[in-house]
Amino acid sequence: MSQSRILLCLAHMSGNEMKYIEEAFADNWVVPLGPNVDGFEHDLEEFVNSREGASPLDKRVVALSAGTAAIHLGLIQLGVGPGDEVLCQSFTFSASANPVTYQGATPVFVDSEPDTWNMSPELLEQAILDRKAKTGRYPKAIIIVYLYGMPAKIDELIAIADKYGIPVLEDAAEALGSRYRGQYCGTFGRYGALSFNGNKMITTSGGGALIVPSDKEKKEVMFYATQAREPFPYYQHEKIGYNYRMSNICAGIGRGQMTILEEHIAHHRHVHQLYAEAFADMDGITLHSNPEEKFDANYWLCNILIDKDTTGFDYEELRQYLDKAGIESRPLWKPMHLQPVFAACPAYVNGVSEDLFGRGLCLPAGPWVGDREVEYIVETIKSLYRR
Ligand SMILES: Cc1ncc(COP(=O)(O)O)c(C=O)c1O
Repeated sequence: MSQSRILLCLAHMSGNEMKYIEEAFADNWVVPLGPNVDGFEHDLEEFVNSREGASPLDKRVVALSAGTAAIHLGLIQLGVGPGDEVLCQSFTFSASANPVTYQGATPVFVDSEPDTWNMSPELLEQAILDRKAKTGRYPKAIIIVYLYGMPAKIDELIAIADKYGIPVLEDAAEALGSRYRGQYCGTFGRYGALSFNGNKMITTSGGGALIVPSDKEKKEVMFYATQAREPFPYYQHEKIGYNYRMSNICAGIGRGQMTILEEHIAHHRHVHQLYAEAFADMDGITLHSNPEEKFDANYWLCNILIDKDTTGFDYEELRQYLDKAGIESRPLWKPMHLQPVFAACPAYVNGVSEDLFGRGLCLPAGPWVGDREVEYIVETIKSLYRR
């Protein structure tokens, strides 16, 4: 793909991908299973299980067709069904919440806190108690999201979930490589979902994975991901299944991408550092950054908040101005409790995500964004001040 515009986050190949794809063609493994799928899962397991200053975890990973499929299968594993409620971070992409509705359950949205922009522990507890009071039952699961790769206040959230015995599914679609207390996001809850969509930290063109606690659960998830086919010589089905497994070709891309994952993460952090230095003396622009040392974002996208009273422009004026200069930027996610499709769902809000949505902009941060591009983006923003 030719690139004259500076895009938010564009796929970037290591050069090793074709080797794995060619192997798949040579061996005719052009199906949704095979050595690349096994190899990619193995590489991901090694990666997510490692911890700073602690012995490795023992999680398993199932490669799937999408991050959305991973969230869906996580909810199935948690037994979410018609009539259930699932607490879900409101400030997110719709794919966090859509699978709740696939199961005939209702998403109940919980707003964010201002430090990480992720689920507010305080509101989470309020929501749990209020749902219990209103429906007589606790919600069936909690979906926490690490938006833009920023870890949430995980200890506080998990402590509340444990207090009420509600399992946590982490939507780590944007957070591959982000750590909290030296441990990778996606490994704290019962399940963790990853995405390898074209714009993510690494890509398989389209794809995802579910991090699960054991081999037994890995087998269960694989069963549902391959049409719930029972072990008979003929096709026997006793449950509803899905066609959610990753293809051996996509997994070949994934294996190649794993050889460059650390480099991608380091690059995103470098770009964030460049923005941090540039915005330090620009009044009215605040870069979203790790609030404390235990948070270690992958900085999948770099985000700013704009104080119009100081800058004289708002996020939409800046977005259009950058667009004319050949720079892609995007408003922050519109909270789910403001989305027409979820208008009937209960929501516990504090104004944080609405405020962020009204003031924020995502700036380019991917592997194709180098020092020169950041300089150009920053200079372009500066020139809007002068107008
Ligand atoms: C927060 C979040 N959750 C879930 C997803 C879904 O992932 P996928 O596009 O791989 O289905 C995405 C990305 O697309 C995302 O950004």
